[in-house]
Amino acid sequence: MTKRFKIPVHLAVIMDGNGRWAKKRNMPRFMGHVEGAKSVRAVTEACVELGIKYLTFYAFSTENWKRPKKEIGFLMKLLNNYIDSEFSTMMKNNVRFHTIGDISRLPGGLAKKLEETKKKTSKNTGLNLILALNYGSRMEILAAVRQVADDVKNGRLSPDALDEKAITERLYTKGMPDPDLMIRTSGEMRISNFLLWQLAYSELYVTRVLWPDFRKKELLKALKEYSGRERRYGGVEAK
Ligand code: IPE
Ligand code: IPE
Ligand code: MG
Repeated sequence: MTKRFKIPVHLAVIMDGNGRWAKKRNMPRFMGHVEGAKSVRAVTEACVELGIKYLTFYAFSTENWKRPKKEIGFLMKLLNNYIDSEFSTMMKNNVRFHTIGDISRLPGGLAKKLEETKKKTSKNTGLNLILALNYGSRMEILAAVRQVADDVKNGRLSPDALDEKAITERLYTKGMPDPDLMIRTSGEMRISNFLLWQLAYSELYVTRVLWPDFRKKELLKALKEYSGRERRYGGVEAK
């Protein structure tokens, strides 16, 4: 693949529209999730080829527990199968696996499996693949604030020394750069509790394409648009 575009260091994705994709075809919602998992594979592979360093997928939000039990169960099973089937590809492609969110609340042996996958891939130096699982940005920020309050109370941190870094290094994304580009599929113009702190200056790209239809071709379209954006970070146009 030729690098015709400016490549983001960190690409974050809200994968949305699996249910609508299935509904359009008179299929049950879970079929949309099955096809959506194939898009995860396709986009990850394309990011490996493009040399993207960080790729974050919003896979399950803290609000998604409101869904029917059967759908949640299916998503968890899909995640379990995904880890099993993708592990060898991760090793082959030098992919390092991470999660953000409270995985301890995931059912079965999932948390253990995810921790093992992180450990086994920890020496890989290519793409950092990050799955947001039972992730909510408000919960993440709240947990960081709680830690700060605790450190202040115990005299480990002075309120005067409190800066942005004190927060960023207490977030799940500690050590990772903020996303340069955030893609949301299926047309919804909202952030849905995803990386609220980290997305402050990210470029946003919303497409009406439903997640199961978002593959390499759509990714390249998004990167082309991103390449034409001018990022000013509150400053003025660069001369
Ligand atoms: C996104 O697709 C998948 C997850 C949230 C896990 P949805 O399931 O939200 O699909 P729609 O929005 O109902 O079409
Ligand atoms: C966002 O999609 C969350 C994930 C992709 C995991 P949702 O479908 O859950 O979000 P809303 O309900 O449209 O805001
Ligand atoms: Mg949705």
